[in-house]
Order: sequence, then structure tokens, then C-alpha cells
Amino acid sequence: MKNTRRKFLKALGGTSALLASGALTNDSNAKIIELKSSAEPEKQYGANDKVRLAVIGLGIIGHYDLDTALKVQGAELGAICDLYDGRIEQGKRKYGKNIFATRDYREILERKDIDAVLICTPDHWHSQIAIEAMNKGKHVYCEKPMVHKIEQGTSVIEAQKKTGKVLQVGSQRTSSIAMAEAKRLYESGTIGQLNMVMATYNRHSSGGAWQYSLPPDASPQNIDFDRFLGNAPKVGFDPIRFFRWRNYRDYGTGVPGDLFVHLLSGLHYITGSLGPTKIFASGQLAYWKDGRDVPDVVSAIMEYPATDKHPAFQAVLQVNFVDGSGGQNQTQIIGSEGMIDIGWNDFVVKRNPLPKAPDFGGYDSLFTFTEETQKEFVKQYDAKYTKEDREWKKLDDIIYRAEKGYDDRLDHFKNFFASIREGKPTVQDPAFGFRAAAPCLATNLSIFEQKIVNWDPVNFKLT
Ligand SMILES: NC(=O)c1ccc[n+]([C@@H]2O[C@H](COP(=O)([O-])OP(=O)(O)OC[C@H]3O[C@@H](n4cnc5c(N)ncnc54)[C@H](O)[C@@H]3O)[C@@H](O)[C@H]2O)c1
Repeated sequence: MKNTRRKFLKALGGTSALLASGALTNDSNAKIIELKSSAEPEKQYGANDKVRLAVIGLGIIGHYDLDTALKVQGAELGAICDLYDGRIEQGKRKYGKNIFATRDYREILERKDIDAVLICTPDHWHSQIAIEAMNKGKHVYCEKPMVHKIEQGTSVIEAQKKTGKVLQVGSQRTSSIAMAEAKRLYESGTIGQLNMVMATYNRHSSGGAWQYSLPPDASPQNIDFDRFLGNAPKVGFDPIRFFRWRNYRDYGTGVPGDLFVHLLSGLHYITGSLGPTKIFASGQLAYWKDGRDVPDVVSAIMEYPATDKHPAFQAVLQVNFVDGSGGQNQTQIIGSEGMIDIGWNDFVVKRNPLPKAPDFGGYDSLFTFTEETQKEFVKQYDAKYTKEDREWKKLDDIIYRAEKGYDDRLDHFKNFFASIREGKPTVQDPAFGFRAAAPCLATNLSIFEQKIVNWDPVNFKLT
């Protein structure tokens, strides 16, 4: 099956970027439209006009985020913070041995030479550090999900309002040129009336299931385990909890907070939705029984009520960490006349408007009538519908994909810096970040408490 798809895409001129995503077409007439990044040259900044950054949490995404942020004109690194000495040492080797480094993020927040912090810690630290940072006058790029618990959301929103600092959440796809084009097409009515969203983010590897590599030198001496725990329940030193924190509810938010949040961020951005009002979900631990207390197979149904931006629709989200089909990341936004099928920085538009006339024949009751009745039926039908009314106007698929090498994270950081420097509206402000995170956390509530969760995304409340 996969090979056939691959051949198809090759025939279409498909690239690995397209193959890497879930968005697929088997329409051999499909047209490809390449989306280009902005050609505007970036402004240059003098030595006194830099935005000085610190990264708090220099783990995997800390490197990705920092390296990307430093590609933006006028960005400069001022300090690093982490709880494992090996990562501090690696940071010094990479960014310079004189860089200010600490295990205590509060030392960074006290520094006058730091304008903005990137919060790349485990989820249970996000809201606390974000609030403290804004109160100390720092702008914040906070990794997703913005909060670990629903109760934490409004205080982040309030702290941002009170301080006026920029807080952008890190689900980078909302800055993607592909998502902007999908939004434009959605708003122009390409898919007709939205009725359903089917989103999957399936994986098939130990790394994909969060079993990240453990450093052989991990010890209580070179890891500040108590600080890592923070307000989480006290447990003895455990490098597995430290390096594979996603597997434990005390620090992570499971599959929904890790992955659904990207799917919902994209969906809310495209549709302008504030979020679902009803969430019910099921989860099971099917395969990765390594001591984790979160499921590796999760399905959720979310009901989105009609708003002035969209009709009522259902979103079905699903993650399978032991997906023998090989894994897939796909969000299908389905309407009465078509579908936008999104991978990551690419998507396929399929359009299939219903004909005006109802169809007959095939698996239908017509042949069960007497011959005279069938003839009379056809006569009346012919009198009522023109040839055009009966035509299926299936249109050729169109593949939209970002140009090769396109990096949505870079655009997300450019947007962050534009908000800091020029006051440009934040693409993913705390309200947006919370509205993407809360239904994911509600998914966990639904799974663990076996109940339907009602959420008010306008007033940010469980109801
Ligand atoms: N936007 C994305 O695409 C994306 C991708 C991956 C991860 N993330 C998010 O980034 C965050 C980090 O994920 P990761 O995979 O890099 O985890 P990681 O375990 O690799 O890194 C986390 C780092 O935070 C440090 N840390 C923990 N508590 C700290 C504290 N109180 N102060 C300072 N440092 C602290 C740890 O020492 C560790 O090095 C998560 O919230 C995750 O959801 C986002």
C-alpha cells in the first residue's frame, strides 16, 4: 500500500516532505502548488538593539528553539539554564564557555541583560516560569502545552495582560505559510460547509513513544532532581522520570498535551474556532509498558458548537504509538463539498461537490418497482433535472506544499520577535494557547475519570 502511494507521489513529482506527512492523494491529475516564504529582507539591528535571549531547559527542543531563534536578525543569546550538568556543559561547548549558565532559572529572571526567555522545560514548569518571567519584565516564548493543569490557564492570561509582555506559545504550525494558505482556502468556502475533522498523529518507534536516550553518567550529583520535581509529589532520584518525564502525569500531559495540542492549534487557527464544548475520550496502554502511567493509544471526540466563524462540527482525534502501519500525521478538515487534508507544511485539497439531482440506480430501490413504475420514475426525473444538475463535478486534487527547506519554527520565531519589536499581534497568545491546551487536558480528565467533560472556551471554564 505504502509503496504504491510512494510510486504515485513520485509520478506526481512528490518529495520526501510530502511523503513524510500524512497528506496524500491518489489523483494522477493532481496539480502541485509550491508555497514560498516571504521574500522581504529582514531588518538589520545594531549591537545596542539586540533582543537578548535566555533558554530555560536546554533539552531536545531547547536546542531546536534556541538555534532557530538565533537565526532571526537581532537575536542574541545571553544565558542558559538546565538541571543536568551534562546539558549545561554541552551548551557551553556549543554557545561559548563564558555564557552565563545556571540551574536556577530565577537567577536568569533577575538579570537586566535578558529581554526574553524560551521556556523549554517539561510541562509542569511552564505556567509557573512563564508568570514569574513576565512579572520580572521578560517576554516569553513558552513551549506547548501552555499549562499542565486547566486551573493554571487564567493566571497566565492575567499575568500577560497585567505586565503587557509578549507571551507566544510554541506550537509553530500556526506561523506556517501552509497553514495560512489552508486558512485562506477554508475561509473562501473551498470545502463547503465544515462538518467533521479527523486528526491522527500515529507513530511507530521507541523514540516516538518517548523512550529517549539516557546518559550513562546520570547521577544525583549532576542532576538537580528536587528542582525538577518542583511542586510535583516527592519521589527518590530517578533518571527515567527525569529524562522521560512525558511518561508520567506528574510532569507531562500525555499524548493529548504532547500531540493533540498541535492538531488543535492548527485547527483553531484555520477555522477561527475558540474550541470544543464537550470532550469524551478513551485511552489504553497497549504496548509501551515501561512503567508509564499514561496511555499509548488515545481517541477523543470533541464537539464544536456553531459560532459566527464556523458551523457545528465534530473533531475526532487519535494517536497510536504502536501503529504497525508505520505512523501518520494527518488532519482532515471535511466539509460538504471537499476536504483540506493537512500533513505538516503541506496539504491536499479535494473537492467533490454533490450534484443538484439525487442519484438513482445501483444499490437503490428503483429496480424493485414494476417496469411501468420505473419508466414513470425516470420520466418524472428527466422532466425535473437537467443534464447539468446530474453531473458529479469532482475536481482535480490540488497539492499545496511549502518550498523545500521551509521551516515553520523559524517563521514562528520571526513572529515572536515582531511582536516584541513592533507590537505585532501575537500569533499564539495566552488565550489561544490555553484554548488549544485545555481540550487536551480535558481529554486526560475524560480518560482518567471516565466521564464526559464540558468546557466553556469563551470564559475558560469547566462547566
Ligand atoms: N513545539 C514543538 O514542536 C515541541 C517539540 C518537542 C517538545 N516540545 C515541548 O518542549 C518542552 C520540552 O520538551 P523536550 O523534549 O525538550 O524535553 P527534554 O526532557 O529533552 O528537555 C527538558 C529540559 O528541561 C530541563 N528542566 C526541567 N525542569 C527545569 C527547571 N525547573 N528549570 C530549568 N530547566 C529545567 C531539564 O533539565 C531538561 O534538560 C515540553 O513541554 C514539550 O511539550 C515542543
